[in-house]
Amino acid sequence: MVKYLIILLFLLVSCNEKPAEMVTPKVTETFQIKVPDYYGNLPQPSFNSATKDGVALGRKLFFDPILSSNNKVSCATCHIPDVAFAEPSTIFSTKGVSQKMLHRHTPTLFNLAWHNGFFWDGGAVDLESQAFGPITHPDEQNKNLITLVQQLKTIPDYVMLFKKAFPKDTISSQKIAYALSQFQRSLISSSTLYDSFLKTKDSSIFSIQEKQGYKIFKIHCETCHKEPFLTDFEYHNNGLDADFSDDSFEGTFQGRYRVTLLEADKGKYKTPSLRNINLTAPYMHDGRFGHLDSVFNHYQNNIKNSQTLDIRLKNKIKLTDDDIKNIKAFFNTLTDSKIMIE
Ligand code: HEC
Ligand code: HEC
Repeated sequence: MVKYLIILLFLLVSCNEKPAEMVTPKVTETFQIKVPDYYGNLPQPSFNSATKDGVALGRKLFFDPILSSNNKVSCATCHIPDVAFAEPSTIFSTKGVSQKMLHRHTPTLFNLAWHNGFFWDGGAVDLESQAFGPITHPDEQNKNLITLVQQLKTIPDYVMLFKKAFPKDTISSQKIAYALSQFQRSLISSSTLYDSFLKTKDSSIFSIQEKQGYKIFKIHCETCHKEPFLTDFEYHNNGLDADFSDDSFEGTFQGRYRVTLLEADKGKYKTPSLRNINLTAPYMHDGRFGHLDSVFNHYQNNIKNSQTLDIRLKNKIKLTDDDIKNIKAFFNTLTDSKIMIE
């Protein structure tokens, strides 16, 4: 709800600005974000398609703690670049300004352009509005947007960068969000061994174990962790819980129901991509599993039945020890050391 209020607030505030579709086309150099054929075209809104200067500005903002009220917390404080922009070994972040615990695990940030909804429950519909959540949330960056805009206007570097990225506009909270979105859409993960296979279709680049793991993965997991992104971008209940009556923290524990208020969405969360999965433990929306072995144990033995459990998991997933070893070998081919273009 807080996030909604924030988005609503933004919409009210931004009424004074020109509606997005009326913004004059940019004259800055467009930026060709490199995407492999099997991803298709990079989806981006016509009112905020990437430019070289927009991405550069977004990158600077992403790493700048000026976005927080105590000048200590940047987006990258929680979304750590070396590990696919997730927050490893932390179940719930306490790195926000208040140092209070958040209630969801910090997700990865890559291939975001293809997502239809943001946050584990899809509570934000686009990146352009999502950014206001963390910037203003008291337990994340706790920054007043008006103060932020005023501060940026006094920093010559930012004045220049905004002028280059958005020549027709003055610095505004909307343009901060636009730049952050451009930068985040430029975070593409497509440089793994698995990608070499997708590009060449030459399965001999896989070891026997990796090849076998890929096969088992396609049988049991790929239906939701869909190729090539290894997510279907949909919301499912994968059997972690059976009771969704706890409506505390604005419905945080009720899954996508928080957003749609549909009974059928209770306990559903966005399928996470399994790209870079070795880098991003702990796992699930609440980081409940510290290790992949616990994830396998869940799918094999601990699926909890409920009205909304995905039908594909009703009978659990039967895997042998070898299957698990092989899937893990396949997972080793999903680690990307080149998500951010330097
Ligand atoms: C204090 C830690 C923290 C900070 C700071 C933070 N985030 Fe996050 N971020 C999270 C957590 C936790 C979630 C998951 C929230 C949820 O799903 O309800 C998240 C989710 C997201 C998502 C959604 C990803 C997806 O797959 O749906 C995006 C995008 C994002 N953050 C971008 C940003 C940006 C941009 C900033 C800086 C303006 C930022 N974050 C600052 C912790 C943080
Ligand atoms: C019915 C769809 C579905 C199937 C089938 C499925 N998953 Fe998932 N998986 C999900 C969803 C949804 C989540 C996120 C659940 C949550 O956080 O509440 C998830 C989460 C995960 C995660 C945690 C990822 C992270 O970043 O936190 C791993 C690892 C995982 N699944 C592996 C597998 C493996 C391995 C298989 C096959 C043996 C499999 N999944 C089959 C839907 C599915």
